[in-house]
Amino acid sequence: MKISRITPAIGARVTDVHLGEASRDPELFAQIKSALLKHKVLFFRGQEITRADHEAFARCFGELEDHPVLNSDPEHPGLALIYRSESRHSYENAYHSDGLWRPNPSMGAVLRCIECPEIGGDTIWVNMVQAYEELPEDIQQKILKLRARSSIEQSFGAVMTDEARRKLNQDNPPAEHPVVRTHPETGEKILYVGSFTTHFVNHNTPENIRHGIDKTPGASLLLNYLLSRATIPEYQVRWSWQPGDIAVWDNRSTQHYAVNDYWPAPRKMERAGIVGDVPY
Ligand code: SIN
Repeated sequence: MKISRITPAIGARVTDVHLGEASRDPELFAQIKSALLKHKVLFFRGQEITRADHEAFARCFGELEDHPVLNSDPEHPGLALIYRSESRHSYENAYHSDGLWRPNPSMGAVLRCIECPEIGGDTIWVNMVQAYEELPEDIQQKILKLRARSSIEQSFGAVMTDEARRKLNQDNPPAEHPVVRTHPETGEKILYVGSFTTHFVNHNTPENIRHGIDKTPGASLLLNYLLSRATIPEYQVRWSWQPGDIAVWDNRSTQHYAVNDYWPAPRKMERAGIVGDVPY
C-alpha cells in the first residue's frame, strides 16, 4: 500500500490496496486507520467493490448510522443513497460535519462514487484542527468554554412542509456541543461549528455582554467569523470524482462541502456513516 499526501494541510491518496481485502485483514485495516488519523481524509481510486464490501469496510471503524432523511437500500440500511438528479437542490453544498445535530455526531464516513458528472461535482474537505490552531490567541481563549446548538432542521428541514419540519425536529431534537472539541484519539483541539450550528448557548454572560444589543449581534458575528474559517483554501483539499472512487474521512477533525455545480447531470454517491462518540 502506498500513501501520498495531496496538500500540505490535509488529504492523502492511497494506492495498491483493495478495501474489500482490507476489511478482512486487521493489520492492513490498522495501517489505513492510522493514515486516516494523520491525513484526515483518504482517497482510493478505482475500487471495484460491492455494497456488502463497502459496508464491511466501514464497519471495521464502528457501527453504522441510519439517517432520518436520506434513503437507503433496505438490504444495506447502513448505506445512505445520496442521489442527485431530479432537481438542482442539494443538502451537501455547505461546510459541515455529518450529523452535528446528533448527540453523538458521526465518527467518520466512507463515501463511494457510483456515477458522477464528467466535470464538476467535486467535494472539498477542510482541516478543522488547523482552523483552530491558526485562530488569533484571544479568539481561541474566548471560545474555549463556549457551547453551541446544532439542528437537523437548519439543513434537511428547510425544504419540508412546516408540519414535516416540526416532526423531523421533534424526532431528532437539537444537540449541544463544545465549540472547541478534543479529538478522542489524537488529543488535537478542533474548531467544531458548521452549517448545522444555529447559536451559542452560553455566550450571554456578564463578561461578554454590557447591554442587550451586545447579545445577538456580538454572538452571531463571532459565530459567522468561526464558520467562515472553513472556507480558507490553505486548510483544504478538493477531490475530483471518478466512478469507483472512495473517500474515507475523519468527521471529527474535518468538514466537507460537495460542490453543486453539475445539474442537470446526475451524481450518485453512497455513504456509510460511522457512529461517533459524545464530543468533549
Ligand atoms: C456528504 O455531505 O456527506 C456527501 C458529500 C458528497 O456527496 O460529496
